[in-house]
Amino acid sequence: GGAGSARPHESAVKHVTGRAAYIDDLTTPVRTLHVMVGQSPAAHGRLTRLELDKVRAFPGVVDVISLDDVPGHTDIGPVFPGDPIFAHDEISYAGQSLFAVAAESYKIARQAVKAAVVEIDEQPANLDPVAAAEREELVRPTHVHERGDWQAALDGSPHVLEGTQFVGGQEHFYLEGQACLVEPTEDEGVLVHTSNQHPSETQKLVAEVLGIPFHAVTVSNRRMGGGFGGKETQASPWACIAAIIARRTGRAAKVRLPRADDTRGTGKRHPFHNAYRLGFDERGVLTGGDIDIVGDCGYSPDLSEAVVDRAMFHADNAYSLGDARVTGKRAKTHTASNTAFRGFGGPQGVMIIERAMDDIARYVGEDPLTVRKRNLYRDADPDGTPRNVTHYGQRVEQIPLLHDVISQLEESSDYWNRRREITRFNAQSPIVKRGLALTPVKFGISFTAQHLNQAGALLHVYTDGSVMINHGGTEMGQGLHTKICQVVARELGLDLDKVRITATRTDKVPNTSPTAASSGADLNGMAARDAASKLRERLFDFASAHFDHAAGGLDRETMRLEHGELIAGIGADEHRISWGELVQAAYFGRISLSEKGFYATPLIHYDRATGRGRPFYYYAHGAAVSEVEVDMLSGEYRVSRVDILHDVGDSLNPAIDIGQVEGGFIQAMGWMTSEELKWNDKGQLTTVGPSTYNIPTFGDTPETFNVKLMEGHPNSQASIYRSKAVGEPPFVLGISVWSALRDALASLVDYRFCPVLDTPATPERVLMAAETLRQQA
Ligand code: MTE
Ligand code: MOS
Repeated sequence: GGAGSARPHESAVKHVTGRAAYIDDLTTPVRTLHVMVGQSPAAHGRLTRLELDKVRAFPGVVDVISLDDVPGHTDIGPVFPGDPIFAHDEISYAGQSLFAVAAESYKIARQAVKAAVVEIDEQPANLDPVAAAEREELVRPTHVHERGDWQAALDGSPHVLEGTQFVGGQEHFYLEGQACLVEPTEDEGVLVHTSNQHPSETQKLVAEVLGIPFHAVTVSNRRMGGGFGGKETQASPWACIAAIIARRTGRAAKVRLPRADDTRGTGKRHPFHNAYRLGFDERGVLTGGDIDIVGDCGYSPDLSEAVVDRAMFHADNAYSLGDARVTGKRAKTHTASNTAFRGFGGPQGVMIIERAMDDIARYVGEDPLTVRKRNLYRDADPDGTPRNVTHYGQRVEQIPLLHDVISQLEESSDYWNRRREITRFNAQSPIVKRGLALTPVKFGISFTAQHLNQAGALLHVYTDGSVMINHGGTEMGQGLHTKICQVVARELGLDLDKVRITATRTDKVPNTSPTAASSGADLNGMAARDAASKLRERLFDFASAHFDHAAGGLDRETMRLEHGELIAGIGADEHRISWGELVQAAYFGRISLSEKGFYATPLIHYDRATGRGRPFYYYAHGAAVSEVEVDMLSGEYRVSRVDILHDVGDSLNPAIDIGQVEGGFIQAMGWMTSEELKWNDKGQLTTVGPSTYNIPTFGDTPETFNVKLMEGHPNSQASIYRSKAVGEPPFVLGISVWSALRDALASLVDYRFCPVLDTPATPERVLMAAETLRQQA
């Protein structure tokens, strides 16, 4: 059951039987208050009147707060300032928090909110990030990556193409919405239960808002019903609000946002407007060029500096751009502040180069897969030009692996036979057209903010031999806790059921990083391993002195922990002591059975002033082949077959990793096809629930869905047991569905060129693209 074996998620049975406790399932203290937030209906303007007397007088209401009632800091921006806990004067988006009401019941709180009198002097809402960027309305300064003389490369290119691509945003749609339960504690502090990817940050913000030291705030989370990045920074405001109420009233306070309030009030995946101008030769091989990306950040910085950086770092995806410039702009608009979402900007960056690959392939008259393969990172061109360094100066390792993934998938998916078959089918089918596409991923692993690449763990062994491990990471369904238990089981030679993880708590492991950037297992796994191996060595020291095998002691050199036993010596000289006996003896020998662990990722650095460095410890690779069938009279389509081959190094748990690949792909398929965010002209989000916002359902699973992990390629870096992160990279593979749709559309013009297809590529957009092509044909 140790690391490396396929084991079910530690809470799998609880998940499917409804016994896994989420925030709303926790037993509440007596007299717990229910909190509802009053939100701005307007997207931009001045708050001229906020009259809360009627709310206060509403029967069953216990407390009402707005900005003036905040005892400490009022700006809760997580990295940069800019996020007031409640709007005061300036209104920046529809859904912004104005006040909060605490009542005896959820229903009363919900009704009382409506009794507020809100008057706003409305101004036009800016929802156009491109226009905002042109006017230099940015939430953070523009950043540039530049490699070589890109202008000369463009000027000297035999061919140049350009194009623009809109990439839509995405609502997280975690099944458990934003929720927290805050209990006042007797030392003027609070205990915060929150569905939260970043407990330490919430601890800090709650402490600052209350004006109390960090040690008076404890944040705890056992699991989330999904986070997907949406609870990295944006779980904190609700905890801060509930904490203020809990301290003012002396009663526990609970927030559980209704779905529509949650969707209006929190940020999404950043929409992007990308543009490329790229030079290439007769074979479609890139010589260099210029890429410009504009992230729609919403009203405040939140995580946008890093999100747009990651989009820039992934504007090459798996391809050597040559001499290139990549410019990333962070536009300010009047929407909720867009935030982390699986891939953290990376997928949006990848979209522009995948768009270009398809366009270039049509231009030179080759299959897009051929052009993609020619452009993959490689050691050097025939003329000796190195092609293994990114536009930000990081050398790409494991290049043969990247090529192997694609050629193996090309084989196993039967790409070329199917290509021939599809060409034949399309030639005799005037209305229904099929499309096929293979797209790869090369995804950088590490937080690009260097300091976040650290983790801690706390290990206890109790006198019955049972083991408790805590670490800084949070569980959101991705199987992190399962993997960490497996690491400890492997280090201590125990069955998995001997090892348990309880809630992530800031009073157990302090100063933690968010569980994000797919690095949860990489970082916390190493910290847990550090703790377990230190404890193991201490037990070995103790055992070699304590168990006096024929007075000579046990052989320290050959000691190992396996199958619940300490084994010393080899062959006839072998001695075995059960784990239980060892632990008992160590306890009576007054040996500490508790240990903490720590880890900091080596090698990584990034100099933002020059835009160069090695921001990533390593890259994770993968590829997907998607096939679609499109009805060109309606634009309706289905994804008929998907084959994926994905690199996770030496998997920590193949069962969980395959689940992550499948889930990531389907989530991205939704992003690429059916999930469309819409705002009306007043800047109000109109897609605030499942009736208007369409996430994929079971029925959308491709009829044939073959997912395999790449085998025999351990991580070239010394990551935890040579595994690789898996949470986000496979998300990027959903782009193959979009590329396959473009392929099907291109058949309408004999594959002479590729249509513009913004995302999400809804049936409406597909139909419009088909219409445009039919006119051009
Ligand atoms: N899987 C599930 N089931 N639920 C989630 O919320 N979040 C994703 C990914 N997989 C998520 C998930 C995101 S955005 C990240 S960054 C990683 O999990 C975080 O976990 P890890 O670092 O342990 O992989
Ligand atoms: Mo994931 S977007 O890094 O939480």
